[in-house]
Amino acid sequence: MSRLHHTTSAACCCSKTRSGEKYTDPFKLGWRDLNGLYEDIRKELLISTAELKEMSEYYFDGKGKAFRPIIVVLMARACNIHHNNSRDVQASQRSIALIAEMIHTASLVHDDVIDDASSRRGKHTVNKIWGEKKAVLAGDLILSAASIALARIGNTAVISILTQVIEDLVRGEFLQLGSKENENERFAHYLEKTFKKTASLIANSCKAVCLCPRMPGPSGA
Ligand code: FPP
Ligand code: MG
Repeated sequence: MSRLHHTTSAACCCSKTRSGEKYTDPFKLGWRDLNGLYEDIRKELLISTAELKEMSEYYFDGKGKAFRPIIVVLMARACNIHHNNSRDVQASQRSIALIAEMIHTASLVHDDVIDDASSRRGKHTVNKIWGEKKAVLAGDLILSAASIALARIGNTAVISILTQVIEDLVRGEFLQLGSKENENERFAHYLEKTFKKTASLIANSCKAVCLCPRMPGPSGA
């Protein structure tokens, strides 16, 4: 990130904004709109069963990089400046950032079952602590909470884009289970797998925030 803080006049003109300010670290810029991200995600996981609640909240401990939500709110800001000359991220756009993080986390909980992984982000995995069966259900629970939050935004185009992401994740993970003998096919297979498993969530979440800059969000803002 330090590369983004150009200080010398030898740096290219893009190192300064039009008002002459230095560029801000995008992570700092994004976090302004994501204050309370993990608390808000935990509020979405309204579960009465103590164990299921503990399992599904396990990775929303505030220690993740929140890479996807940050990219999403930065894209939202860029779109809003372009469309409305407004820097404010709308509630519906912030919800998409939360939903992206929830879909991503649900997929990781399932991926750790598939990979029989025992550690993630410096802690034991959900499957390692609670076992595979309960880990699958915890991932399902996070995904269902994300779907409820998505439905609440009430924009069918956004729902369609983000449900496509879920399909892509499943297809990408499935593609990873297979391989190709031929070298050209192998590269094409790799690109498709990587787009579906990784890029689709980022690209489509960015597409979704561009579609709802003026939509009212869950809080009616
Ligand atoms: C990490 O892969 C896994 C993913 C990016 C996606 C996994 C997708 C699924 C399990 C499909 C189910 C999807 C949902 C939404 C429930 P990796 O093993 O290469 O990376 P890692 O080292 O972080 O585990
Ligand atoms: Mg894995």
